Amino acid sequence: MNEKIKELHALREKALKGGGEEAIKKQHAKGKWTARERIEYLVDPGSFLELDMFVRHRATGFGMEKRLAYGDGVVTGLAKVSGRRAVVIAQDFTFMGGSLGEMHAKKIVKAMRHALANGVPVIFLNDSGGARIQEGVDSLKGYGDIFYMNVMASGVIPQIAAIMGPCAGGAVYSPALMDFIIMVRRTSFMFVTGPRVVKAAIGEDVDEQSLGGADVHATKSGVAHFVADSDEGALNLIKALMTYLPSNNAEDPPYLNTGDPPDRADENLNALVPVDPNEAYDMKDVITRVLDRGTFLEVHAGWAQNAVTGFGRLAGAAVCVVANQPKHMAGVLDIDASDKIASFVRFCDAFNFPIITFVDVPGFLPGTAQEHGGIIRHGAKILYAYSEATVPKLTVILRKAYGGAYIAMGSSHLGADFVAAWPTAEIAVMGPEGAAEIVWRRDLASIKDPEERARKLAELAREYREKIANPYFAAGRGYIDAVIEPKETRPTLVRALEHIRSKRETRVWVPPKKHGLPPF
Ligand code: HXC
Repeated sequence: MNEKIKELHALREKALKGGGEEAIKKQHAKGKWTARERIEYLVDPGSFLELDMFVRHRATGFGMEKRLAYGDGVVTGLAKVSGRRAVVIAQDFTFMGGSLGEMHAKKIVKAMRHALANGVPVIFLNDSGGARIQEGVDSLKGYGDIFYMNVMASGVIPQIAAIMGPCAGGAVYSPALMDFIIMVRRTSFMFVTGPRVVKAAIGEDVDEQSLGGADVHATKSGVAHFVADSDEGALNLIKALMTYLPSNNAEDPPYLNTGDPPDRADENLNALVPVDPNEAYDMKDVITRVLDRGTFLEVHAGWAQNAVTGFGRLAGAAVCVVANQPKHMAGVLDIDASDKIASFVRFCDAFNFPIITFVDVPGFLPGTAQEHGGIIRHGAKILYAYSEATVPKLTVILRKAYGGAYIAMGSSHLGADFVAAWPTAEIAVMGPEGAAEIVWRRDLASIKDPEERARKLAELAREYREKIANPYFAAGRGYIDAVIEPKETRPTLVRALEHIRSKRETRVWVPPKKHGLPPF
């Protein structure tokens, strides 16, 4: 018996070394942790139950019989992260560059099945050279099986991908099918075709980082939701994210007592919005003052900054926040902001987060670039996502809420359960100046003196603002439930949420259908 136990220890020892000491040294030299080091840091101490440690590939040829490490380049298992159950998958670059062959993929699919069957999130730490070249179509089948599982799990369990090394070719589509992508600066990259193919195909010279580095995807493409400076930073982000997420779509997000008084009013909010409607301010100041202190976790912070999305807590309840950002492009909605808001709203709806929307939006961005890029198609996604969402929807209109953008940003017309407006709210078809120019065009044209004409325009705009573009006109129709002092925003939302939390989709009428057709 002792001999058998010794043998087990020896095999375990071997498996723990992955691709061997030399490869581990190389991994460290690149500033990267190994798969096992990452798992050790990520999971709660002593909680990791490894699966399939002794799986090996069965490929022959191309020297594969000599390369038979235990684990086949990926570590999988069940664990707790931030006190919550999860399935963890970590590719081991030290064995054949973490490349994905038949058995490697089978381990991943098996772990994902566990996650789906038990209703717990999947955390996938990617670090791989892609399809294992020596295993041909078996590798491709493996990817296909993973993509299929990603889609089956979509909207049922949260799926988090961290990119902690290479992720190229079709391999990018597993993270892309997941809910959140976290990238590590300098050591990770994602692209469908790498620099060499780009050069051969279109003659363009570009390096890995400029093509698909973390900052590119976090600011330009929107592929990455979060960026970290190191493996440690990326794993910390996963831990933070896990504190907000429910385990699956049948559960509510976890409650956490933050100790911040629910009735805390904030005098500073009364003076936060500038008197001049065209002056900018930082919407994140409003968000962080209204939410429980220190709970705002911004998602997609570097991309489409004219919109703000993130998680937070309101009297301990986890909520999603969506907002316009007057500090960037006056908070206008463009193609990227539309995609950012719509995808976040759909995630929040799928996982039972109340959605709190803060509105200060001048409209959709005009111009040929936006029209030709399909702002009609992309903007429609926001309307679709809000209308479809059956979770509690609470909206606060701070200042501008014009035209279609007013409707899109969580208005009562798309099913918001509670809408409050600040006294500074301007709700109308368009801005007062634009409205006055159109309605009184002939009167204005008849005034020859430009100074006199400008004075008249300002006067007409003021009249429009006073009579129509104010919260009381909308409140008079019942489109707004309450006009509140800005300082009362937090206590008002807390009270409203307390009542609206019991909203259930089974009690909201949705016509029977196989599935809707959002404007993809
Ligand atoms: C087999 C691979 C591999 C792969 C890397 N390795 N990628 N083995 N299949 N796809 C091996 C290397 O041969 C090497 O083995 C070890 O992993 C470490 O790789 P290095 O090149 O030494 O590391 P580094 O310099 O850091 O470069 C990493 C890399 C590079 C950028 C990922 O290895 C690379 O370009 N690999 C090929 C990437 C690729 O084209 N993959 C296919 C993408 S297409 P030794 O024995 O020397 O240690 C794809 C299609 C998916 O994935 C389709 C899904 C639908």
